Amino acid sequence: MSEDLFLNIVWGWMILAFASFLLLQQVVAPFGRHTRSGFGPLINNIAAWSLMESVSLFTFSFFFLSGNAPKTYQTCFFFILWLLHYINRAFIYPYRQKNKRKKMPDLIFILAIGFNSMNGFVNGYYLGNYSDGYGWNWMVDPRFIGGLILFFAGMYINMKSDNMLLSLRKPGQSDYKIPNGFLFKYISCPNHFGEIIEWTGFALMTWNLAGLSFAIWTFANLAPRAVAHHQWYYQHFTQYPKDRKALIPFIL
Ligand SMILES: NC(=O)c1ccc[n+]([C@@H]2O[C@H](COP(=O)([O-])OP(=O)(O)OC[C@H]3O[C@@H](n4cnc5c(N)ncnc54)[C@H](OP(=O)(O)O)[C@@H]3O)[C@@H](O)[C@H]2O)c1
Repeated sequence: MSEDLFLNIVWGWMILAFASFLLLQQVVAPFGRHTRSGFGPLINNIAAWSLMESVSLFTFSFFFLSGNAPKTYQTCFFFILWLLHYINRAFIYPYRQKNKRKKMPDLIFILAIGFNSMNGFVNGYYLGNYSDGYGWNWMVDPRFIGGLILFFAGMYINMKSDNMLLSLRKPGQSDYKIPNGFLFKYISCPNHFGEIIEWTGFALMTWNLAGLSFAIWTFANLAPRAVAHHQWYYQHFTQYPKDRKALIPFIL
């Protein structure tokens, strides 16, 4: 595929992220606490998370490893970061959920497979085929250093917050509690905040359109979800802290 055609596909993919962001202002994605009827048959939540997220791992790996560009230490490092995130998201995170009987609509599962296939493809294909390998000078470039710091800070915030949420329940429980401590002091969804920072860091350190598209998609998916979670907390807990924001401390 020519690089021009590939970049046009990524532009189209980013426009779709914007359309999805607008749609998510109207319709709250029906999974997790927002699961409701009217979205077709249901699939086990844990199996769905594991399958749909592993797609991203496999598509990225396939297109990166089969691409013609030389595999340098730098591009292999980006590949390892991708693996780190998705091994947790596909094979560790889902099995730590306490409510083993929870379900997710097939529609969400299928849409997530589509999203993860495309996202793994554009990022793996770019690094596997068009990247110039980055070179050693890139490792002292402020974009690489800043991106790396953001990536690991975001990953830390995301994983710590997910861990805190997952430990709110005892095995078998399915009820919701008010999370406290760490960044929950300021926002309702630090796990979403961390994930957005993480992929913004990845976009900065890889400095290409495919990485940018993932950062934009992450914001498009998670900003409306954080706002919906935040409103849900106020509707369900009269004692929910009034000064807590949804996603960005002191701002949103
Ligand atoms: N990059 C992307 O585009 C993207 C898109 C979606 C998700 N993600 C990531 O995937 C992960 C999960 O996302 P999510 O939106 O499903 O997260 P979430 O709604 O915050 O839920 C995370 C887990 O914690 C449980 N939980 C949440 N709040 C709780 C509370 N107050 N009391 C007790 N248990 C609680 C949830 O149970 P229930 O399932 O029963 O609610 C679920 O098992 C996050 O790290 C997110 O950043 C990334």
